[in-house]
Amino acid sequence: MYSEKVMEHFRNPRNVGEILDADGIGEVGNAKCGDIMKMYLKVNDGIIEDVKFKTFGCGSAIASSSMATELIKGKSIEEAMGLTNKAVAEALDGLPPIKMHCSVLAEQAIKAALLDYSKKHNVHIDGLEDFD
Ligand code: FES
Ligand code: FES
Repeated sequence: MYSEKVMEHFRNPRNVGEILDADGIGEVGNAKCGDIMKMYLKVNDGIIEDVKFKTFGCGSAIASSSMATELIKGKSIEEAMGLTNKAVAEALDGLPPIKMHCSVLAEQAIKAALLDYSKKHNVHIDGLEDFD
């Protein structure tokens, strides 16, 4: 049912934790399953210098957050904005259909953290208008 990559990121998730002096923090949840994901960003000169997450959720949510942090670390804000849940799922070699929403949480958590960053630091980020 689960790919090797999902299992591997579930057993050994990357970038777990929190950033105390984060520039942006996003928290999202899924009402149906009750899972919660929190994302912390450190941004410098438009680059995601560091990212950490805390997920209270299923294995797919943990694997999705882990993969998502890997995909945006060291990347620009624009690249992070462009990260879709599909790309997260593909990077994990797929998720079962009923688990696709776990990857949606990862995309939303990143956008929520970017929104928080843009508000706190008064920077405009293209594409966040619809998310607010
Ligand atoms: Fe948590 Fe099923 S709802 S394992
Ligand atoms: Fe809801 Fe995974 S089951 S986030």
